[in-house]
Order: sequence, then structure tokens, then C-alpha cells
Amino acid sequence: MSGKALNIGDQFPNFTAETSEGHIDFYDWMQDSWAILFSHPADYTPVCTTELARVAALVPEFQRRGVKPIALSCDNVESHKGWIEDIKSFGKLSSFAYPIIADDKRELALKFNMLDKDEINAEGIPLTCRAVFVVDDKKKLRLSILYPATTGRNFDEILRVIDSLQLTQTKSVATPADWKQGGKCMVLPTVKAEDVPKLFPDGIETIELPSGKSYLRITPQP
Ligand code: BEZ
Repeated sequence: MSGKALNIGDQFPNFTAETSEGHIDFYDWMQDSWAILFSHPADYTPVCTTELARVAALVPEFQRRGVKPIALSCDNVESHKGWIEDIKSFGKLSSFAYPIIADDKRELALKFNMLDKDEINAEGIPLTCRAVFVVDDKKKLRLSILYPATTGRNFDEILRVIDSLQLTQTKSVATPADWKQGGKCMVLPTVKAEDVPKLFPDGIETIELPSGKSYLRITPQP
């Protein structure tokens, strides 16, 4: 039986697990940080190895944003510890600074709906897909992405989304297609014209459109 699908804004349920760094209670491990939990089909697989190496190299970028990475893979702690040596070798890494959850019974994969029914292992069991959950400091789910086992994730994109989430939670803007940190932003549709001067003292640009509607309002990143 799989768990209830989580929606953006839901409280991310707490859990305990064995990891490559010992037993954790997820909330205690997070402390007051954000977290990115990303799952994997299995240890000693090629795409997963590239992904874990990439995240290990990006640890300083996650730290700068107050986000703690944690991986999950459907093998046991002993297997994870051996695999970490391969990941370090592949990524030319001197250290591997985040835990990998051991979900060898697929309990968390089921609880968080992280199974890929199109990828079946030798025992006929669906593999864990490549899920990404970004959880904020209030333990709320802020982003959820599911990739199939055969497609590796783009972690620059995930950092980009985290930048957008952290910007837009305090400023009255949304980020447009392909936005990057420092790029132009869109004034939120809910901002009334009379509130624009107070919220955006440097002014905004309103794009003229065939409809005559003034909804495309652009501002430098606040
Ligand atoms: C991989 O990590 O390379 C992989 C794992 C499961 C299915 C397909 C690819």
C-alpha cells in the first residue's frame, strides 16, 4: 500500500531511518535548516553515482542557501558505505558530506510514493524513482519533482528553484521562465496598481499587450 501523495504546502511527515551517518530522526537532523531529500533506484548504478557525486560537489552551494542534502537509496548502510568510496573516486572528492538513507525494505519509498512502476528489478519489485523533495525550515513541502529511473536530475535547476522559493517567500514577485539569481522578476498579479510605488520604489515596466491588460509587470530583482 503506498502512502498519501504529498502536495506543495503539506507538512512533510517526520520519519526515522538508518543512514550512512547513523540513525536519524528527520526533523532533528534538519534542525532549523531546509532540506532536499532525493531518492535513487539502487546503489552501484551509473546515473545515481553521477548524481550523488554532483550533489557532494554542490554541498557548499546548498549550505549557502541553508539547505541540508540527504539522499535515499534502496540498499543497506553497509552497501551505501562501500558505494560512497566509488562516488568519491568518480567525482574526485576528498569527502562526502551528507547522509544516504538505507531504505532496503522500501518503507520510505512507499510512504512517500517514490516508486517507478516502469522499472522493475530482478525480483520483480518496482525500483525507487528519482524523487526530489524540498522541505523548508517549518517542515513544509515546498517542491516535489519525480523523474524516471533512466533520467538523471539537473541539480543546477534544483538550486535555481530553491533560489526562487527563498526569494518569492519574502518579496511580492514571481520568477519568469529561465530566471536565474539576479535576473528580472514579475510583479505578482495580486499586487494592486496603487501599491506598486510603495513596494517597488524604483518603478516597474509594464509590457503592452494586444489584450490591453496590464498583467506583465517587470521589476529588477528586489
Ligand atoms: C542508474 O542509476 O544508472 C539506473 C538505475 C536504475 C535504472 C536505470 C538506471
